[in-house]
Amino acid sequence: MDALKLDHITKTYGPRVVLRDLSLTLSPQECTVILGKSGCGKTTLLRLLAGLEQPDTGTISRPAGLKLGMMFQEARLFPWLTCRENIALGLPPGSIPQEVDHWLSLVQLTEAADQYPAQLSGGMQQRASLARTLAMHSGLILMDEPFAALDYFTRAQLQQELRTMVEQMSMGVVLVTHNVDEALTLGDRLLILREGTMVWEERLPPGKRDLLSPSLIAVKKRLLKELA
Ligand SMILES: Nc1ncnc2c1ncn2[C@@H]1O[C@H](COP(=O)(O)OP(=O)(O)O)[C@@H](O)[C@H]1O
Ligand SMILES: [Mg+2]
Repeated sequence: MDALKLDHITKTYGPRVVLRDLSLTLSPQECTVILGKSGCGKTTLLRLLAGLEQPDTGTISRPAGLKLGMMFQEARLFPWLTCRENIALGLPPGSIPQEVDHWLSLVQLTEAADQYPAQLSGGMQQRASLARTLAMHSGLILMDEPFAALDYFTRAQLQQELRTMVEQMSMGVVLVTHNVDEALTLGDRLLILREGTMVWEERLPPGKRDLLSPSLIAVKKRLLKELA
């Protein structure tokens, strides 16, 4: 599957230049993590990629046949539908209802299938949201700080689960975050967005991540220095 390409994108809000002559190629075969401080334009970039917003100048090419999914900081579930029904909404036409069982078990929500969002913890709601997004069989999932509202342990667990899924399924992710550990856990390719453009890039080897390994600690130091 071809890549999603941004070519010399500029985006302004009034006098504020958020993205400046930005060119970027995003592969649907890997997890690209875009890091940057609050207000640097991460959400704007994702909205442009999703087609929810238009650039002032430059072009975005989305390969025909590449299905984009999107996951937000909040779970955005329908409160009047059960967990199972919320996930079923993501299934493409023609799917069998039993497919939901697969996604429920993958995010460990089998027991909670018939509960309503208000009966679930924040972490469980975000898991249901992840399952709904995965159920859509998107080729590339755009994620806007999807785990930011979760406590440390729930966040770490979901990150590991997502990493496993990225490795096992032929699915790409573009994830924006200001969390360095999240970037190191999930990313195949790390980018830093600053003053409207990408200022730094590093690739990480495939496989499960040990944040305490000397090589990842070294990358973390470089990242923190660059973000400071
Ligand atoms: N719809 C909008 N109208 C005006 N300014 C906006 C709008 N959306 C974002 N901005 C501004 O653009 C900048 C980047 O915002 P955003 O993309 O949300 O940053 P991030 O997600 O990295 O925190 C901020 O200064 C923000 O105030
Ligand atoms: Mg944002």
